[in-house]
Amino acid sequence: MSYNIILIGFMGCGKTSIGNILACELGYSFIDSDEKIEEISQKSINQIFQIYGETYFRQLESSVIKNISKIDNQVIATGGGIIKSQINIYELKKNGLIIYLKASPEHIYNNLKEDNSRPLLQVDNKIETIKVLLNEREVFYEKYADIMVDVSNKDIETISQIIFNTIKDVIF
Ligand code: S3P
Repeated sequence: MSYNIILIGFMGCGKTSIGNILACELGYSFIDSDEKIEEISQKSINQIFQIYGETYFRQLESSVIKNISKIDNQVIATGGGIIKSQINIYELKKNGLIIYLKASPEHIYNNLKEDNSRPLLQVDNKIETIKVLLNEREVFYEKYADIMVDVSNKDIETISQIIFNTIKDVIF
């Protein structure tokens, strides 16, 4: 069966690193929507937000999602804000299984405390901002997910293995 495996979840939950391992295990190609956006615009996500603003970034994100959804047999790591637009989910669900990597605010903070590549987290109180944003978004991650995997306090190999075991009967 032709499918895409789509990883959704908050910034810093491990979509890219887990997606890479999973793609290898499945023999699928791997694509990261943020990397694609950076490649197309020849700018970092920070630069895109600074120069053009978030609205422009979201338009670019939706157009990238639409294009990458046309191909099958990929593991797709999405940006944490993908759920802000229902059309993104509509495109991804056409040929994809959506997996939500659920992480606690503490787990996310731990992964991102030294990271400056997320424009929305360049704030004075990072943990508080993570809590507020996660609280707003969690309902959408849960609503759109076909499968949910709790990633807090687990290493990326273990998480990839859990996902592989969960989906292998569906996709092979
Ligand atoms: C964003 C998440 C980021 C990136 C951008 C906005 C968000 O991707 O798309 O900084 O709104 O949550 P990651 O989830 O890969 O960090």
